[in-house]
Amino acid sequence: MCNKTPATELLKIKYPIVQGPFGGRKISAKLVSTVSNLGGMGSFGLNSYAPEDILRIDKEIKNLTKKPYALNLWVPLNDDPLDHYKEEDFEVLRKVFKPYFEELQAPIPDFPNKGMQNFELQMEAISEAKPPVASFIYDIPAREIIDELRKRGILSMATSTIVEEAIMIEEGGVDLVVASGAAAGGHRASFLRPPEESLINTHLLTRQIVEEISIPVIAARGISNGKDIADILKIGAAAVQMGTAF
Ligand SMILES: Cc1cc2nc3c(=O)[nH]c(=O)nc-3n(C[C@H](O)[C@H](O)[C@H](O)COP(=O)(O)O)c2cc1C
Repeated sequence: MCNKTPATELLKIKYPIVQGPFGGRKISAKLVSTVSNLGGMGSFGLNSYAPEDILRIDKEIKNLTKKPYALNLWVPLNDDPLDHYKEEDFEVLRKVFKPYFEELQAPIPDFPNKGMQNFELQMEAISEAKPPVASFIYDIPAREIIDELRKRGILSMATSTIVEEAIMIEEGGVDLVVASGAAAGGHRASFLRPPEESLINTHLLTRQIVEEISIPVIAARGISNGKDIADILKIGAAAVQMGTAF
């Protein structure tokens, strides 16, 4: 298998493997830096972190690796689903999942604290931190933001679930696009159409996007071993982004 692709060239990594960012504080600088040190690219999900924490985490990663890594943010949603989420609904889910958490001896999560961070301030912190790559999900940052990142030598990546989103991402000046297929464990990333209208199989989506745009396409969802990676690279993906496997 040839590990050299347009994505590995642009990202300056050895293997076409990105460890997908995990939001909700389910990631550590150790995991991110380990993946980067081994030749892939680690990513840190920072959606819930304040600007000062972003700077601190970036330093932690920089102390652990000299290799490329990504910092990831959620672009603010126009209609945050948590606006309509009630504590009673959460209690119902808590009861359903309680036995599984007990079996794993894991703490049961508390009602999610809405408190979204201010995206502009988070972006200022990312600009100051100057990670090699900034990745985004749930929409595309404004063109000025992408241009500012480029000026500072930071590559950008954004997530699409349908071809139209990938085209918008390319037209928005972003360097790489993630093609996020339907095999997602409850994590939907669509922004142009509702999630239920944006459920395309990862292979099909990758194929469609590769035909329409010229920036490198990183295939995500349901990829977990070498054979999966080889299969999707054959149809034109320039790399894969894996989450669950990590
Ligand atoms: C628990 C969890 C949290 C995630 N959080 C984010 C996130 O904050 N930002 C993001 O871009 N992708 C996020 N993702 C998507 C992953 O980065 C990755 O694209 C996805 O998990 C790939 O699919 P796979 O899990 O089937 O390999 C998350 C995935 C999981 C499982």
